[in-house]
Amino acid sequence: MTTTRRDFLLTGAAGLSLAAAAVPTLAAAAVPRTRRLRIAHLTDIHLQPELGAARGFAACLAHVQTQPTAVDRDVADNGTPNLIITGGDTIMDAFEADMARTKLQWELWRKLKADHCGLEVHSVVGNHDVWGWSRAKAGTTGTEPLYGKRWVCDEFGRDLSYTSFDRGGWHIVLLDSVFPHEQSYIGRLDDAQWDWLERDLAAVDPATPVIIFSHIPILSATPLAVAGPSKPETALINIPGGQIHVDGDRFLKLFTSRRNIKACASGHMHLVEQLDYQGVRYLCNGAVSAGWWKGLNRDTDFGYAVIDLFDDGTIERHYVPYGWTATT
Ligand SMILES: [Fe+2]
Repeated sequence: MTTTRRDFLLTGAAGLSLAAAAVPTLAAAAVPRTRRLRIAHLTDIHLQPELGAARGFAACLAHVQTQPTAVDRDVADNGTPNLIITGGDTIMDAFEADMARTKLQWELWRKLKADHCGLEVHSVVGNHDVWGWSRAKAGTTGTEPLYGKRWVCDEFGRDLSYTSFDRGGWHIVLLDSVFPHEQSYIGRLDDAQWDWLERDLAAVDPATPVIIFSHIPILSATPLAVAGPSKPETALINIPGGQIHVDGDRFLKLFTSRRNIKACASGHMHLVEQLDYQGVRYLCNGAVSAGWWKGLNRDTDFGYAVIDLFDDGTIERHYVPYGWTATT
């Protein structure tokens, strides 16, 4: 919208404040935002020797690296993603698997990455990446050197299951959502990770935008989509603590005090969602494996997210099906 000289004169003295208020908007519109970073977010790969998963993941990596322009509906400058962030549940399952089966799956991950990926990769830990917490099913004792998160941390080349780094003028945080609960898990950070996160964010310049990746969503309506009908006798909707973070309230309070946190991206639910709440964009980014390689998951296709991060702290997300269909 432009203001003509005639419009300005017609508004008279009362219009002065309106005209003045419009100046920053017009000035901002004249300076287009610039994309600083393009991330391909590949979550819930669930790599396994069966169901064509290895060929599917190779096809996904090829798509990421060769057909990035397909998503450029409203971004002027095309280009291959700068880096890949995998969002957890990298392999089909280590949680209930024995050592031999877990080893097989991680070997597949290493081989596919080496053979088919030329981009920088950073990885988030998912519940299925944790080895042997379901001890009865996995046959673990809890004393194995690679038990729990040690194995996946070794695969990701890190000491800790969470980390952060700076890229393209943004601060990028990779959290570990997986907290033990009765030989299973719930979504929350442990005390050490909370201490680390608060110190990590406090050290970021308030002018630097932040995006946080976690496997389990911090805030999401997707559990409502899969909850089914509420029970009339309780009038409650059932949302298990394994579906979204049970410490979400603490995140929301933290975000209120740090306005440079712009987005939180997750996986876990194998559904695609965008939720904007109090200045933060929450994105649930589907699944490379869709319905665990057996087909779509509630109409969510085999896909990955392209996340564009801009210099003004805004972001855009496109979910990109990479053309895979289930094999039987
Ligand atoms: Fe998953």
